[in-house]
Amino acid sequence: MEIELQHIHKRFGRVHANNDISMKLRGGRIIGVLGENGAGKSTLMKILSGYQPADSGAILIDGREVDYHGPQAAIAVGVGMLQQDPLDVPAFTVVENFLYGQPPAMTRREARAKLAQISREFGFELDPETPSARLSIGQRQQLEIVRLLALGVRTLILDEPTTGISAQQKTILFDALQALSREQGMTVLLVSHKLEDVIALCDEVVVLRAGRLVGDKMMPATKAELVQLMFGQEIAPQERSSGHIGDAVLELDSVTIQDRRVRVESLSMNVRAGEVIGLAGLDGSGQEALMRACVGLINVAGGRVRLNGRDLTRQSYRDRMHAGLAFSAAGRLEEGLVAGLTLTEHMALMDNSRAMIDWPAARQLSGKQIERYNVRGRAEDRIETLSGGNQQRWLMALLPEQPRVMILEQPTRGLDIDSARWVWQLLLDRRAHGTAIIFNSPDLDEIVTYSDRIIVFFAGRFHVIEDASTATVDALGHLIGGNFEEAAR
Ligand SMILES: Nc1ncnc2c1ncn2[C@@H]1O[C@H](COP(=O)(O)OP(=O)(O)OP(=O)(O)O)[C@@H](O)[C@H]1O
Ligand SMILES: [Mg+2]
Repeated sequence: MEIELQHIHKRFGRVHANNDISMKLRGGRIIGVLGENGAGKSTLMKILSGYQPADSGAILIDGREVDYHGPQAAIAVGVGMLQQDPLDVPAFTVVENFLYGQPPAMTRREARAKLAQISREFGFELDPETPSARLSIGQRQQLEIVRLLALGVRTLILDEPTTGISAQQKTILFDALQALSREQGMTVLLVSHKLEDVIALCDEVVVLRAGRLVGDKMMPATKAELVQLMFGQEIAPQERSSGHIGDAVLELDSVTIQDRRVRVESLSMNVRAGEVIGLAGLDGSGQEALMRACVGLINVAGGRVRLNGRDLTRQSYRDRMHAGLAFSAAGRLEEGLVAGLTLTEHMALMDNSRAMIDWPAARQLSGKQIERYNVRGRAEDRIETLSGGNQQRWLMALLPEQPRVMILEQPTRGLDIDSARWVWQLLLDRRAHGTAIIFNSPDLDEIVTYSDRIIVFFAGRFHVIEDASTATVDALGHLIGGNFEEAAR
C-alpha cells in the first residue's frame, strides 16, 4: 500500500497547523513523524486517518484519490490510527470495545476468539471481560491495535504510543510493529518524541516544524542528527545536578498500601526539602500507588504519612493540598484537565482561597503562565484544542508556586526534548527554594538524570538506591525487571 499526501492545508483560526504538506509513504516501512510540540503532527495524522478533514489537498492511496468522511471510512480503505489519548469506552469491557466497528453479525463468542488469536500473535495480554477502565494505558493501546488489525487496517498510525507505558510493554509493542511491517508489509507511522525509540524502530523519518514539512531522512541517523533536523540546532545532553538538601518534610512511616493491582508492604522513608526522588518500575508495580497514597487518593492500609510533623494519614486530598502537597496526574485529559474548559477556567478552578471566582486575577495569572511555560495557545482556548505537549505544559503551569512537596506522575509525558528540559528547569528552580519532588517516569534516563534518590518497584517490592549518581540506565533497566537480589550483592 502506498499513500501519497498532496498539498495538505489545515487552519484552526489563526494557526496554520498544516501548511502545504506533501509526502509519499511506502508500504512495509516504519516511518517516524518528528517535530516539536505544536508542529502539526497529530493534525496531519488525524487528517490521514479521517478524524478531521483537511481544508485543501488530496490523499492518494495506491495512486487513487480517496475522499473519506470519518475514521470508519478511512479504516475501510485500510488506514487506522491509535490516538494520542486512547478513545476506548471505559465502562465497556475489552471484548465490547473490540466489537466496536466490527461487522454487526459478529457474535461475542467470535469476537472473543478473534481477540484472543490476534493478542496471542503479538504477546498482548488482554482479558476479554475486564472493563477497559481497569486496563493500564499500555493495555488500552494493545486493545486498540488488536481492534484495528481485526478491521483489516494496512496502515497503522500511532501517536506517541510509548509515553504512558512501561519498558516491558514497549518491547512487546515494538516487536509487534516490526513483525507487522516486515512480515505483512504494513505501513507504520510512529509519532514520537523519544528519539531512542525512533532510532531503534524506524526505517525513515519525516520532520515537521510550525506546520511545514522541513525534513525527510532515511535511517540510520544519530540522536544529534535528529535533534538538528527538528530544532535546527544542537541540544547538549542534560548534566546531573544536586541542590541543597534540608530537613525531612514528608515522612512515610511503615506505609502499607493495598491497591487493586498491587500491595506495597511497610515502606518507610523521609523525603527531605530540596530532594528529588525518582520512582522507577514497570507500570503498576507500586510507584503510582505510593504517589497516590501520599496525596490521599488511595487509603493506606497501615502506617503513617506526615508532612512537617503533622499527621495526614486520614486527611482528604483537599486537606493535604492545603497542607502543602501538590499533585499532577499522568492521565492528562482523564484526570488532570477538563475538556471543554479554557485555560483561564482551569486557572480559576485552582484558586480555592475564596468562595467566589476572581476572573480578572485568573485571566492575568493565565497570561503570565502562558508566557512563562511557553504554551502555544491563548487563555480563552479550550484545553483540548492545544497540542498534547502544550496540554502537558498547562498541567505543569497549574501547579502551585511553592508547595512543600510536589508529587508528579510522568511530568514530561509527551513533551519534546527541548520542552522537557525546560519544564525540569522550572521544577529545579522550585527545588532550589526547598520544594521536594517525587516523580515517576517510564524514561529511565530522566530518572537517572534528575533524581537524588531512586526507589525501584517490582510487583510491590521496592529497592532504594540511596545515591542516584551511582545509578545507570542499564542497571535500572535490570532492577525494574525484579533483579533486586543481584543488586544487593
Ligand atoms: N481542534 C483544534 N482547534 C484549535 N486549534 C487546534 C486544534 N487542533 C490542533 N490545533 C492547533 O494546531 C497546532 C498543531 O497541533 P498538533 O496537535 O497537530 O501538534 P503536535 O505536533 O501533535 O504537537 P504535540 O507534540 O504537542 O502533540 C497547535 O497550535 C494546536 O493548538
Ligand atoms: Mg500531538
